[in-house]
Amino acid sequence: MTSTETDRAAVAELFRERRFAPSILSADFSRLGSQVAEVMDAGARVIHCDVMDGHFVPPITIGPLIVGSIADQVHNAGGVLDVHLMIERPEQHVAEFARAGADMITFHPEATPHLHYTIGAVHSGGCLAGAAINPGTPSIMVADVADDLDMVLCMSVNPGWGGQPFIPASVAKLAQLRELVPDHVALEVDGGVSLKTAAACVEAGANLLVAGSAIFGSPDPAEMYLRLVAEVGAK
Ligand code: DX5
Ligand code: ZN
Repeated sequence: MTSTETDRAAVAELFRERRFAPSILSADFSRLGSQVAEVMDAGARVIHCDVMDGHFVPPITIGPLIVGSIADQVHNAGGVLDVHLMIERPEQHVAEFARAGADMITFHPEATPHLHYTIGAVHSGGCLAGAAINPGTPSIMVADVADDLDMVLCMSVNPGWGGQPFIPASVAKLAQLRELVPDHVALEVDGGVSLKTAAACVEAGANLLVAGSAIFGSPDPAEMYLRLVAEVGAK
């Protein structure tokens, strides 16, 4: 293995652990660095960044500039950037996010006719590749590329906003996806994950749990991070 391949394997291992990934979407952006430091000091190592373009989903959020602004901080603290692209034609933007410091780039197959090509583009940028599917998208959508993926993300709300309630049918979908994709592929759940819903997600096979409003909407994000971790025996 080359050193780059070794690095990527170590990062892939981190994404396969049972962990919470705090989503900065619900953070206070006027003090983003200190919010990231709070959760990383509590043990978080996967920082989830939600990129929205105003087309695939109505809101516009952040781009490579903001991802790049926290990249050194996260990497120097031993963490990784989990970039969730909710944008049309993601293949046109993966190189930019890779340059900004993304470790995992997850995109929606609903947003491109070029699922296989986009995975290749993400890997060519030196990143791990994830495919995210909406609540109404059948799991089978990722079946033909499952071997090429590093992660599947199961949306447990409709993408676009933090703070929405968890869609209960997501639990069965997580179990279905866990059966469908090979063991080396991480399974992430995103949307409405909280102290109430996390355990069911883990039981269904999710290993990486995104939590935005549960963590950053709490008066003490670090304390909430630790409570979530304790709830499901995560890191
Ligand atoms: C929603 C985003 C999520 C969001 C989750 O479209 O993909 O990552 O931050 O927020 P919560 O945890 O508040 O549901
Ligand atoms: Zn997300």
